[in-house]
Amino acid sequence: MAGGGAVRLPPRLSLARLPTPLRALERFSALPAGSRVWIKHDELTGTELSGNKIRKLEFTLAEAQQQGCDTLISCGGLQSNHARATAILGARLGMDVHLILRGERPDTPDGNLLLDHLAGATIHYLPQHEYHRHEQLAADLSEDLSKRGQSPFFIPIGASDEIGLWGYVAASAELRDDFREANVRPDAIVCATGSGGTQAGLIAGNALYGLGTQVHAIAVSDDEAYFRNKITRDFQRWQKRYADHLPEGFDPQALPISTIEGYIGPGYGRAEAPVFELIRELARSEGILLDPVYTGKAFLGMLEEMHRGKLQGMQDIVFIHTGGLFGLFPQRGQFNW
Ligand SMILES: Cc1ncc(COP(=O)(O)O)c(C=O)c1O
Repeated sequence: MAGGGAVRLPPRLSLARLPTPLRALERFSALPAGSRVWIKHDELTGTELSGNKIRKLEFTLAEAQQQGCDTLISCGGLQSNHARATAILGARLGMDVHLILRGERPDTPDGNLLLDHLAGATIHYLPQHEYHRHEQLAADLSEDLSKRGQSPFFIPIGASDEIGLWGYVAASAELRDDFREANVRPDAIVCATGSGGTQAGLIAGNALYGLGTQVHAIAVSDDEAYFRNKITRDFQRWQKRYADHLPEGFDPQALPISTIEGYIGPGYGRAEAPVFELIRELARSEGILLDPVYTGKAFLGMLEEMHRGKLQGMQDIVFIHTGGLFGLFPQRGQFNW
């Protein structure tokens, strides 16, 4: 396996506030004795553009601009953090944005959807039972817009494809510097996985930049097989498209893909009381805010696995805080008030 050095990043826009801090938890008391949890604060990549998506979109939008596109089309849930980041970046870069969102138009917009609306994105609502058609709909929309003289660029859910994959490959170089500075050699990096792009980027980046750690992703939407297939396919496309950017002999397909199941709870986007209790506890003890859709579930999963599971006995673990704050507000009713 190739070590660091020879990787060459493709064109990238500078959109995120980087580097984000890496800090160890100081007061949160539910960790097993002898273990430390470090937070990589990617919720601080921006304010309105906070979270993991912007790291991927730096590469995705550079590609869209290189292709001369003036319109972005993307998809996701009503409270998609990725859709919100796309809407705001579109406004910032002077591009039209069309979002195909799963669900019905609510009477009052909240959380990410409110920001999509404020940023001027055109929103196409697609009911849950028809959502399997979203890529076809995006293709039809793209054709329509092209006929009207626009030049659209399609971004798949979560910008998780062979282009967006670079986001967390590049973040791994930042992590390498963080670890050096903090003088820590983490046993594992943990993140939430929803569309697989953050996980895939970290897996590849861990190998490319010689981080020498393990990457474990906590599933918040699909099962282990889904992420294995998705990441395997994205790695294939990535390797083919960017062969001249990767070190010779580097084979991402040989890398372990660890997806931890069991923490989805009642379903994607819906969480049970322990997740909300944890969100409150971390806010009170450390001033860190998680969300109930991604980071809250992933953090809870990490804790459980540290006590009795795949992360048991580990000393230093890095949790990637991937953002998601705006998704907290539409679920305000779940907190005891
Ligand atoms: C806040 C947050 N955390 C984690 C994830 C998961 O990242 P990925 O889609 O790259 O798997 C997402 C998006 O899906 C997200 O919005």
